[in-house]
Amino acid sequence: MTADIAQISAEPLLRLRGACRTFGTGPAAVHAMNGIDLSVHRGASLAITGRSGSGKSTLLNVLGLLDTVSAGQYLIDGTDTTGMPARDLDALRAATFGFVFQAFHLVPYLTVQESVEMGATYRHVRRSALRTRAADLLDAVGLAHRRDARVATLSGGEKQRVAVARALVRNPAVLLADEPTGNLDEATAAQVLDIFDRVVTHGVALVMVTHDPQTAERADHHITIRDGRIAA
Ligand SMILES: Nc1ncnc2c1ncn2[C@@H]1O[C@H](COP(=O)(O)OP(=O)(O)O)[C@@H](O)[C@H]1O
Ligand SMILES: [Mg+2]
Repeated sequence: MTADIAQISAEPLLRLRGACRTFGTGPAAVHAMNGIDLSVHRGASLAITGRSGSGKSTLLNVLGLLDTVSAGQYLIDGTDTTGMPARDLDALRAATFGFVFQAFHLVPYLTVQESVEMGATYRHVRRSALRTRAADLLDAVGLAHRRDARVATLSGGEKQRVAVARALVRNPAVLLADEPTGNLDEATAAQVLDIFDRVVTHGVALVMVTHDPQTAERADHHITIRDGRIAA
């Protein structure tokens, strides 16, 4: 009972209220987000599906503070981010989110270990602590044995697991993933999704855009976007 009450009263980590994002003006305006209300809680996963152009990436970008709402509110841990100065948004983004993209976005000539360490931007993190943390994460994604390999020599699935480790190196509260398995075969995709499951078990919130209905089914919550609105 107590746990239930705590659950109900718990402030969502991320909360959109009537959020809109419009590109362009006048008759050419595109309402990529058109009044979205959404809550994301710690230790829960949310899958976002919808046709191409429906507004999934826009929603993910707004959630990750890579973009800002044109109207409505976006609260992180109860704090309204609307109208925050860019410097504060940068700091909040770095402290809160890890990003995983479909195309990995890794630097081919770096080693696996260097790629993961690159995810840490804070200069006050001790070099030795960062090295250990990156090594632990590579162990967790099953790539400890490839630590010194160049990224260019990895398979797609291995690259995405490096990208996941890089996204986790700052210990983010939220992992945002835009079609993270879109370039992977089924077996390799399953490995990445298993890693996500474990991350969520450790209290991280996961928001993932996916084309795959089966992947969406695995998540705790699932919404479909249509024309910038939540359809289901
Ligand atoms: N930077 C932008 N400038 C203009 N229009 C954009 C921009 N980003 C997205 N859009 C438009 O917003 C709509 C939603 O795009 P997006 O969020 O990328 O959809 P999805 O990820 O679901 O394919 C599309 O019509 C797209 O063309
Ligand atoms: Mg997209």
